[in-house]
Amino acid sequence: MTASRRLGQAPPARLLDAAERMSIDELRVQQLDRLQWSLRHAYDNVELYRRKFDGAGVHPSDCRELADLAKFPFTTKADLREGYPFGMFAVPRTEVRRIHASSGTTGKPTVVGYTEQDIDTWATVMARSIRASGGRPGMRIHVAYGYGLFTGGLGAHYGAEKLGCTVIPISGGMTPRQVQLIADFEPEVIMVTPSYFLTVLDEFERQGIDPTATSLRVGIFGAEPWTEQMRLEIEERANIHAVDIYGLSEVMGPGVANECVETKDGLHIWEDHFYPEVIDPVEEHVLADGERGELLFTTLTKQALPIIRYRTRDLTRLLPGTGRPSMRRMEKVTGRSDDLIILRGVNVFPTQIEEIVLRIPGMAPHFQLELSRRGRMDHLTVRVEARPDCPAERRTPAAAEIVQAVKDNVGVTVDCLVVDPETLERSQGKLQRLLDKRS
Ligand code: DLL
Repeated sequence: MTASRRLGQAPPARLLDAAERMSIDELRVQQLDRLQWSLRHAYDNVELYRRKFDGAGVHPSDCRELADLAKFPFTTKADLREGYPFGMFAVPRTEVRRIHASSGTTGKPTVVGYTEQDIDTWATVMARSIRASGGRPGMRIHVAYGYGLFTGGLGAHYGAEKLGCTVIPISGGMTPRQVQLIADFEPEVIMVTPSYFLTVLDEFERQGIDPTATSLRVGIFGAEPWTEQMRLEIEERANIHAVDIYGLSEVMGPGVANECVETKDGLHIWEDHFYPEVIDPVEEHVLADGERGELLFTTLTKQALPIIRYRTRDLTRLLPGTGRPSMRRMEKVTGRSDDLIILRGVNVFPTQIEEIVLRIPGMAPHFQLELSRRGRMDHLTVRVEARPDCPAERRTPAAAEIVQAVKDNVGVTVDCLVVDPETLERSQGKLQRLLDKRS
């Protein structure tokens, strides 16, 4: 397999907007000013923030430099649930133009709101994300993220329109039609979860259409973790640039951070609107840039739902900017603390298994992890599909190679079953890889 298609050189300045061209010093001045506004806005208008700040003995006026943010309490998903549905809103209800919500696997959904200005800010950062990915005005963009309460579809949609593109708002699902419309409408860009794009690629092959010969040039993939190995798989199978986009509804939606197609070296955080920190998830202190931990965000401009030090549960580290020198990058998120499987004392992330499975000849990028209990021990079974052209006699050695690679690289013993092509459930959006059958 070839290396990822990096273009190498930084984009010319004329392609950047004014915020992207700011110096680090200018950016820090703007961030402090906006942070002071955001803390005050949250404190003055949201009962929960007032209670939490008062409880911690801090006041917005205590924030005199960016490092002072560390004095303020965290916000968690539980806080948003406590305020369900509209308790976290900081503007009168008549000012809220849109509501989104994340389903959440348990309990109440997390509800978020946007003013007219918030929607414009979101479209601006999404347009910037699409441009960083290689999208240009006049291109057609096939949006296969789900439309609805999920932020993926509408977030991508408004950004594509703002950039001056033509949007094809197909949403997720109805896979044969996705293929037909890509063939007929000839979009240059697709925005979709990486796991659902694999489903679409399989459908291309089922219909006898060569996926490397479509009009698509760029895929903007996010909403779930995916690995460098998956990037190579997608770029080779579809003959496109595969670029990473990150975001979460509590902070805005997609477009909080995005890779530059030129470098594909982590995601530039749009720091003029979202201030990142990384903390030690257990000790809860702020870590220096470069150290891995849990990512936090504070919104700097959001009106309807300001969020202060939100604990994303996503694990990554902050790195200096490259394609956009003043905006720091976050390393590709390879795991959420929620996805962590602790198997006989060893930490395992599904992405570690993905890296391994995709390196083994004959194996498809479709796999599932099943956690079960044998006696008093937890046990992990990796089910992987064989590629359609994988000879039957290759399956047993491939399974043994996966078991060995997991033992060598992750340090734990698993079972591996290679199953027939097209037998594992396909993604229609965000893929749930782990089946927990322990209870
Ligand atoms: O997934 C927003 C989004 C839509 C992002 C489309 C990108 C593209 P939520 O449903 O609130 O929002 O889920 C947010 O998804 O905390 C991460 O755990 C995960 N996530 C999102 N993007 C990435 C990514 C949308 N590029 C949660 N890599 C986040 C890894 C991601 N994980």
